[in-house]
Amino acid sequence: VNEGNGVKGLAELGLKTLPKQYIQPLEERQSLSNVVPENSIPIIDMSNWDNPKVAESICDAAEKWGFFQIVNHGVPHEVLDNVKDATQRFFGLSAEEKRKYSKEQSSTNNVRFGTSFNVQEEKALEWKDYLSLFYVSDDEAAELWPSVCKDEALEFMKRSEFVIRRLLEVLMKKVNVKEINETKELLLMGSKRINLNYYPICPNPELTVGVGRHSDVSTLTLLLQDQIGGLYVRNIDGDSWIHVQPIGGSLVVNIGDALQIMSNGRYKSIEHCVIANGSKNRISVPIFVNPRPGDVIGPLPEVLESGEKPIYKQVLYSDYVKHFFRKAHDGKDTVEFAK
Ligand code: SIN
Ligand code: FE2
Repeated sequence: VNEGNGVKGLAELGLKTLPKQYIQPLEERQSLSNVVPENSIPIIDMSNWDNPKVAESICDAAEKWGFFQIVNHGVPHEVLDNVKDATQRFFGLSAEEKRKYSKEQSSTNNVRFGTSFNVQEEKALEWKDYLSLFYVSDDEAAELWPSVCKDEALEFMKRSEFVIRRLLEVLMKKVNVKEINETKELLLMGSKRINLNYYPICPNPELTVGVGRHSDVSTLTLLLQDQIGGLYVRNIDGDSWIHVQPIGGSLVVNIGDALQIMSNGRYKSIEHCVIANGSKNRISVPIFVNPRPGDVIGPLPEVLESGEKPIYKQVLYSDYVKHFFRKAHDGKDTVEFAK
């Protein structure tokens, strides 16, 4: 389809109609009639970290919405602007340069330039390109990540580390985990991945998706988006969708499946999707905070201490992730694997 230049390559050909491989079945498209325009996910001001009200809002949002935005989080706006610029630079490289990081040509699985979600398994493709960077060490990143974006991507990861830690501390405390010792830290945030996403202008955006309905397999995800918009989140009532309004300088936080499982269903990993855009290119930069592939995840003993029945079983995290990647995006189906 795209000979290694992704959908950006297709968009630049000036296509007037969407290639048929990208036409999604009706039920996978986002019908805007189900969007409640005045609805918004919570926006939490974190300037006063120590205020118990802030902790309360975070836990409440994680239980009732699964998604929220944080402002005054302490990650400098410059760091956010720099990683957005770096994303533009990477996708502005020639097809040949980007292809060096493709599955076919990359020397490592930890750096991957790709398109759609799961090209081998999908009946219909998604209108998105990405660069996915699995963090192992600063040295490896320095050596293997593309030079046009590596410093900026690393800096975003480093500077958001304390926000992630703080969020997890607050969320854990509420479910009876009083402190995050080294073992817990590894289980909750022992591995990280950063993606640079690019959603080019799309002919017939209504016929396809940027990203199909799914929930993240992470512990939690911290997402930077630009001003374009297009991310929709399922309302916990199940029937309607909410647009995640871009707010300059904010970060979107969402609970992933791993934390839903570890909290025995208290925190919600919510379905979301991205629509395609007919007039503007969009970028987003999620940091996925994950257990390590070799960790076994299940409801935490502290959560079950009060006698609560486990609703999930123990699963090897790499098996869980494999289950997610074995097929096209299909909503909330992956979590059934842990039942
Ligand atoms: C995703 O959930 O996979 C992408 C989110 C976004 O681009 O806003
Ligand atoms: Fe996602």
